[in-house]
Parts: sequence; C-alpha cells; structure tokens
Amino acid sequence: MNQRNNRRLVLFPVPFQGHINPMLQLAQILHNRGFSITILHTDLNAPDPSSHPHFAFRSIGDGLGQSEVSTSDLVRLMALINARCAAPFEERLREEASSPDTPITCLIVDALFGFTRDVAERAGVRRMVLRTGGATSLRVFARFRLLRERGYLPIEECRLEDPVAEFPPLQVKDLPGINTAEPKQLDQLLSDMIEGLRDSAGVILNTFEDLEQPALSLLRQEYPIAIFPIGPFHKCSSSSSGSLLAEDQSCISWLDKQAPNSVVYVSFGSIAAVSESEYSEIALGLADSQQPFLWVVRPGSVHGSEALEKLPSCFLAALEERGKIVTWAPQQEVLAHRAVGAFWTHNGWNSTLESISEGVPMICMPCFSDQKVNARFVSDVWRVGLHLNNGLERRKIAEAIRKLLVEKEREEVRERAAQLKEKADSCLRQGGSSFRSLDGLANHILASES
Ligand code: UDX
Repeated sequence: MNQRNNRRLVLFPVPFQGHINPMLQLAQILHNRGFSITILHTDLNAPDPSSHPHFAFRSIGDGLGQSEVSTSDLVRLMALINARCAAPFEERLREEASSPDTPITCLIVDALFGFTRDVAERAGVRRMVLRTGGATSLRVFARFRLLRERGYLPIEECRLEDPVAEFPPLQVKDLPGINTAEPKQLDQLLSDMIEGLRDSAGVILNTFEDLEQPALSLLRQEYPIAIFPIGPFHKCSSSSSGSLLAEDQSCISWLDKQAPNSVVYVSFGSIAAVSESEYSEIALGLADSQQPFLWVVRPGSVHGSEALEKLPSCFLAALEERGKIVTWAPQQEVLAHRAVGAFWTHNGWNSTLESISEGVPMICMPCFSDQKVNARFVSDVWRVGLHLNNGLERRKIAEAIRKLLVEKEREEVRERAAQLKEKADSCLRQGGSSFRSLDGLANHILASES
C-alpha cells in the first residue's frame, strides 16, 4: 500500500447496489493511493462499515421512509432522494469541511446527485463526479433532449428497428427508456447530471480506453473537463464486498463440482424484476437447455410470487439434477470461476464489465436504462454475446444457452471474449491506459489544493 498522504476525500454514493459497488471500489482504489476516505451515505441502503474498516462512514439522515422507497418508478424515487438529501447533505458537508485537522481535499459524488453542484459550491468544496455507467450510454443520456426533438423518443412500436443515425449501431429499441409516471422529472435529472458534469472538477469513469475509445474521445471533445477512465474498478480494488444482501458462498463449492465452461450463470442485478409468467419461462428454458445452471432469484425479483413450488415439475427435476438457486451470489467470484461458461445478464454496467473482465460470453436481456445500450454493444460491437431478442421464450432461451455452451460457434465468441479480457487486464498493468489515468487522477486531486 502507498504511503498515507494526509489528504481526505469525501465520497457520496447513490444508494443502489449498482452505484454503491463502484463508489466503494473507487474509494478503495484511492485509499490504496494514500488518501483518507470518508463515505457519506443515506440511511436507505446504508453500507456496512465493518466491510471497510479503513473508511470513516457518516450518515446524512435522509428521512426516507420504507414505504417511500419503491423501485417500481426509479425516476420518481431518484428525484425524491435528491430532494430529501439536499439539506442534510449540506449540513453534513459543512460540518466535515470545517474539521480543522482533516480538511476535505475533494468531494466525489455520483453523477445522479445533481443537487450537490450548488451545495459544494456554497460550501467551497471542490467536486468531482463519478459516473457509474459506461461512456457510450453517458453520451446517449446527454443527448436525450435532442433524441426527443428528432422523434426517436418516446419510443414508438412501429420504429423499434429504425437505426439511430447519431449513435450507430443503436436502433430505436436500444435507447435507454425508463418507465416513469414523471417524464419531466427524468429530463430534469438528466439535464442536472449533465450540467453537474460540465461544471465539475473532473469526471471519473468505470471503463477503459480499449473498450470505449470512440465514446471517450467524443466526450473529451464535447466536455472541456478532465475525464479519467480508470476501470474496471473491481479488478484494481480489494475484494471487500459492498453487497447489501448476504452472499451465498455455497454456490462456489457447487461450482467446484461442475465441468469447466459448462455452467450458465443467470442474474439480473439488484433492481430488474420479471413477471410470474417470465419467471416460469426462464425456468423452462433452463430445463430445456440441458446445461448446469446457477440462478440468482433475489427477494422481490418476481412480480407476484417467486415460490419454487409454482414452477413446473420438469424444472424442479432439472434443478435437483444440475441446477442451483441462490438469493444473492458473490458475483465477481462466480464469474471468475472456471466452471462458468456463459452469463445470462440484464447488462447493468457493473455486470457487463465484470463479465468482460473474466472473458465470460453473455446472453443479453436488457430491461431498462443504460442496459439496452450496453447490450447492443456486447452483441454488435464487442461481439462477446448474443441478444435474446423479442421476448422470453423457452425455446429461444435454451437455444441461446446451447449456442454459447455447447455448439461450435461458441468457440469464436469465447475467443473474442478472451481477447477483450486480455485488454481489460493489460489496461491495469503498469503503463496501461487505466493505470496511467489513475496516476493522472491522483495528481489532479493533489494539484487541486490551493
Ligand atoms: C443499476 C442499473 O440497473 C444499471 O443499469 C446501472 O448501470 C447501474 O445501476 P443493477 O441493475 O443492480 O444496477 O446492475 P449492475 O450494474 O450489474 O450492478 C449489480 C451489482 O450487484 C454488480 O456489481 C454485481 O456483481 C452485484 N451482484 C449482483 C452480486 O454481487 N450478486 C448477485 O447475486 C447479483
């Protein structure tokens, strides 16, 4: 570990798993570079301090009640979190900033916390932004208004396959739609995010040059600010978990008993949910594939009931013979396991990057937001996965699984995935692009002190 440098960074993650993980990983990376770390957090989904004994944790007391925090309308929830956090965050930041022995060198906030821009300015604290998604989807979000003006949004059924000329190879159906009763709030959140980036002291991205070079170079032209792609974060931070649910380690000993590259790992992240009929179709597809499977069925991930007894008996027989279900997996460890040969994913950015980092080919089933952009890039640009197009259907599911695990064409996808993994590894080695960018980030933070 590097020597301590007596500088303190304050980090503030958005309280969802897909945002907490990369923020805690970034904190660990910067801690390894000698910075002291204070994590500000909401009461909602508060991280477990015992997993990160080197960090100081401070709650900002958001006052959000359990009944208010449904993820069924994420836009509404995110707008509520922004509104409720502004005052307690300002109070806490001023308190932290006035600490005489450890002043704040820099505040690092999630890009979706638009309100922090004015607060940090009033408190006289330098603010950098972490965008937890990819560079490509960030550019799409930044052009949301333009995409509306040009008639791509809201998405119309008859235009789903139309190309989006501004963002090849995206089609209209790949644009990041989010179901919300508050489309104006969505526009506001996105424009606050973009303004917040523009005015920041720099943007940190969990990506790497070889993966998203075109988008990164366009971002640099479009935003006259410092941009630091230093990912994949999880490969250069310690393995401490930021999981909000307990990880079921029994799946690792189960994987130990499976043949190399034989298992399909199925997980749709921390928010996406399926209907009861989709749940049962997934089960039937897994049974029909005849391959071993490890399936994460999170509490609340099925609208209706996730009860096993409701699933068809042919699935229950397959489960007993060659399957395992857990409520939460140690995902990074699972993807790194030699038995895992394919990842059926919703293409959240963390899952996508974790899969790429281990060279595991993907079956893409994007649900909302940036996931659709990520999935198109996985299937059509990086070509390390297959799109599960046009709805969930047991025959197509089984076909996709067998394509990646059994049939001859798996070799080509696997080869490309291995090459991309090598690029992910090499960008973190000494002299690699993310390694150099991290040096640049550390110097940028230190140079900021006046
Ligand atoms: C959300 C959005 O959906 C996603 O599109 C956006 O890019 C980030 O925020 P989420 O849906 O939870 O995140 O997906 P993802 O980004 O993949 O993050 C999930 C995280 O949970 C990953 O780091 C994954 O390793 C972890 N996880 C998931 C586990 O540790 N165990 C599991 O069983 C499932």
